[in-house]
Amino acid sequence: MAERKLPAPRPAIAEFQPYRTQMLKADVRINANEWPEPNPASQYLTPAELERIVLNRYPGRGEELREALRERWGTSPDELILGNGSNELLLNAFLVFGGHGRKTLLFHPTYSMHGRLSVIAGGTVVEEMVGLPYEVTTDRALGAMARARPEIVVFTTPNNPTGNTIDDDVILSVAERYPETLVLVDEAYSDFAGTSLVGRRAEFPNMIISKTFSKVLAAAGLRVGVLIVQPQLMGFFQAAALPYNVSTLTLAVAARVARDEASVKHRLALAATERARVYAALQKVRSIEVFPSVTNFILFRLREGKPAEVHARILAESVLIRDISIWPGCEGCLRASIGTPEENDRFIAALDKVFAATAAAR
Ligand SMILES: Cc1ncc(COP(=O)(O)O)c(C=O)c1O
Repeated sequence: MAERKLPAPRPAIAEFQPYRTQMLKADVRINANEWPEPNPASQYLTPAELERIVLNRYPGRGEELREALRERWGTSPDELILGNGSNELLLNAFLVFGGHGRKTLLFHPTYSMHGRLSVIAGGTVVEEMVGLPYEVTTDRALGAMARARPEIVVFTTPNNPTGNTIDDDVILSVAERYPETLVLVDEAYSDFAGTSLVGRRAEFPNMIISKTFSKVLAAAGLRVGVLIVQPQLMGFFQAAALPYNVSTLTLAVAARVARDEASVKHRLALAATERARVYAALQKVRSIEVFPSVTNFILFRLREGKPAEVHARILAESVLIRDISIWPGCEGCLRASIGTPEENDRFIAALDKVFAATAAAR
């Protein structure tokens, strides 16, 4: 039989590999920067409340959630775009301000989806390699802007995978000097660091800030993201938005999650003490260089040995971390999220075993 022809995608997509999520089985899963303690949906909505949530109608605007976010961030309800996870909103930003013939400037190593989504939206990426340690200075940022002249520049602060922040002044200098460039600030981990540019948003209408419920709010499975956009740009986002993109159930649960301040306090305290413990354990291993983190994950680099092998040997102890050694600027690097105290004990024990064996084999 003659081979049937198939529709061809855009060339940029044809070359793409799917985003790799590690579905390997392990008792301890500290590979995706999620919050590790179980967060059951049942604690947020009672059966009587569920009774009142009707699924035959399309969702509303999420007024209760917008109000809860006003209390959390001081934002007005009309400044917010809600999405099915922040990735969806990042894609929207690239669709609206990027696309064909337009450039996005990224400072590597950084969250890989920014580059992927820019290309999916049809645009091109300009990569400024900062490397490790990840120090994005004002000179470096302004120099890269002058060379690239991008339509969009992204700053992730604190940054994934490096775990450190970019100074507010760096980002604001760029926003000030380049008012016609969209400055996208990804604050997925900012609660852990206690930093945010939300308070400066009104001065810089070209700056938009993305937030997620997937980290300190312990709701990665709920899929909620928020983009904070000034009125000058809001209309463009609204024009491109998908109607009813966040479900009625999600909106109802998210409003409760956003008000659960006691849990956030507990998580911030736990992340800080456990991060210090894991950091100290990594620092003790001579063949590891560990990078200081203000987040719920830690980046480290092997001074010797193959990251894939170390990853596999830690996995043999049923602890799953992330091998990010193929990310640009991350040669030899692995990343571990902060788990529960018991999970971190398991990770530290696995480190002891794997690196004791490595030292003995020398
Ligand atoms: C910097 C950064 N932004 C955004 C996300 C994605 O968040 P969401 O779950 O809201 O799509 C992640 C997830 O790891 C991230 O590291």
